[in-house]
Amino acid sequence: MQPHIIMSFESSCDETSVAIIEDGEKILSNVVATQINSHKRFGGVVPEVASRHHIEEITICVEDAMKQANVTYDDIDAIAVTYGPGLVGALLIGVTAAKTIAWAHDIPLIPVNHIAGHILASRFVTKINYPALALVVSGGHTELVLMKEEGDFKIIGETRDDAAGEAYDKVGRVLGINYPAGPKVDEMAAKGKDTFNFPRAMEKEDNFDFSFSGLKSAFLNTNHHAEQIGETLDQNDLATSFQSAVVDVLVDKTKKALQEYPVSQLILAGGVAANNGLRTALGNAIDQIDTTELVKVPNKLCGDNAAMIGAAGYVMAKKNVFAGVDLNADPSLEF
Ligand code: KG4
Ligand code: ZN
Repeated sequence: MQPHIIMSFESSCDETSVAIIEDGEKILSNVVATQINSHKRFGGVVPEVASRHHIEEITICVEDAMKQANVTYDDIDAIAVTYGPGLVGALLIGVTAAKTIAWAHDIPLIPVNHIAGHILASRFVTKINYPALALVVSGGHTELVLMKEEGDFKIIGETRDDAAGEAYDKVGRVLGINYPAGPKVDEMAAKGKDTFNFPRAMEKEDNFDFSFSGLKSAFLNTNHHAEQIGETLDQNDLATSFQSAVVDVLVDKTKKALQEYPVSQLILAGGVAANNGLRTALGNAIDQIDTTELVKVPNKLCGDNAAMIGAAGYVMAKKNVFAGVDLNADPSLEF
């Protein structure tokens, strides 16, 4: 079954989002209610606060998305929903809303993996040529995902500890930047120099895994030491040095993976994919590889949104992946 119009839901973290997608590649509407302001003062996402906001926002998002796309329930051929990975209480709100609408209007339900959503947001800019590799970098994930064919996902490398976005947010806190700190650190990094020479973890190791907790500790220790001896460090240089270490490792490991798995396309996806330093460095690296094209998810679709879940739902429907009303949230869902 190939759904013409999909209504999709995303509520795995701190964005409540509902979208209406046509033929898996055209966005008719993509309503995103962000909760950033509520989590800012805590320096990160508070799960209970997130769930409460999702409950308040979800029906409003449904109404807005349908209105903007000018559709009724009769027009909707399938409902796609993120059922993991993510915060269980947050996921449950989207899953429950999607199941309820699917059941009440007798519409097929498609379960979607959040990471597949981030990757398949690339469908809105180009046709994906397989085999493809995706570098997914977000607040919760840092993964290299190999796709030999459509709908087939295999993680070939991942972070052993912190996700790249998580490291950005923690480092940002030391620099006095509100959550989520990524965009501001990125901006500062453009103005400084790489003077601190922070560690590039696991760069020499023969695998495609990452580690960012050592870098985070080195950053914190450097600041702590400076504070103790009353020295003022250049904030932009700190940001540049941190970002250079993150980007170097991400680009190096991706290049290494491309040597072992030559693919037609490399997809850069996830919240941190909006990072200017990373986009430029990866672009330069891929320019050297004639056979691989770099596909960058557009900035406005890098962060969590339901449009990407609709795109992934379309692909899952092609593979005949559907769920019943017994679908449950799975916070640690794997491919
Ligand atoms: O994909 P996303 O919206 O949510 C998760 O699934 O985690 O990613 C959010 C993360 C946050 O950690 C945020 O600081 C980071 O993406 N981020 C960035 C940039 N824009 C957002 N990190 C670095 N540079 C950016 N420009
Ligand atoms: Zn995400």
